[in-house]
Amino acid sequence: MSELLLEARGLYKDYCRRGLAAPPVKVLEDLDFLLAQGETVAIQGESGVGKTTLLNLLGGLDRPDSGILLFGGEEIPLEPAARARWRRGAVGIIFQFHGLLGEFTAAENVALAGLIRGWRRADALRRAEDLLGRLGLAERSEHHPDQLSGGEQQRVALARALVTEPALLLADEPTGNLDPRTGGRVLDTLFDLQQELGFSLVVATHSERLARRCHRALRLERGRLVAITTFAGSEGSS
Ligand SMILES: Nc1ncnc2c1ncn2[C@@H]1O[C@H](COP(=O)(O)OP(=O)(O)OP(=O)(O)O)[C@@H](O)[C@H]1O
Ligand SMILES: [Mg+2]
Repeated sequence: MSELLLEARGLYKDYCRRGLAAPPVKVLEDLDFLLAQGETVAIQGESGVGKTTLLNLLGGLDRPDSGILLFGGEEIPLEPAARARWRRGAVGIIFQFHGLLGEFTAAENVALAGLIRGWRRADALRRAEDLLGRLGLAERSEHHPDQLSGGEQQRVALARALVTEPALLLADEPTGNLDPRTGGRVLDTLFDLQQELGFSLVVATHSERLARRCHRALRLERGRLVAITTFAGSEGSS
């Protein structure tokens, strides 16, 4: 595998429950994680074990209580505004519940990621429409999210995460609320684009089928990543 993209060492994360005398919820404890450029990794583990928490740290949506997080050899900024700037340049994120904005069309939802980075509106829309076309949604780009099927919405979310061509894509149960057939198509699209664009992928999932398409699967358990499974190359689209 090629160069290191992401390096996490000794990450700790607790959640304090405001207003309660109860002790904090310990989620991540001395967690280490290395991710190579172009590598695809599945994070598995029971509900509540901390998968989303980990993705939030890797994508700079939240910061660890302690530990080191390096991206391309440089520390991810701790200060929120600098962290947000870094994130917009480096990371695409797909949430479990896609989070598309209902008042905007599919193309506008995708283009927004570029507008936030300072692209001109016409350029952002053109790139959004190109990518939606590649995802088989050319005819749907003027539709609003509530005029799209679940699988189509999930593909728009994929386009939104990738339109700025980030080096790292984080996906949280990207097919969790789709039927198996539609979920399979979204995965085909995801892994085709990964082959084409070469981004690294970290995906939190309960799905064994998704995990088997990644280079590696790790299990999050008692605050750390364990039980590494290396698949004999990703199975590719089938
Ligand atoms: N903002 C928060 N404040 C307090 N506790 C939280 C917060 N967010 C998450 N938790 C707790 O931290 C633990 C880890 O949550 P997390 O969402 O990372 O789990 P997960 O592995 O993604 O679960 P799932 O598979 O259900 O999505 C859970 O026990 C959860 O209740
Ligand atoms: Mg989760």
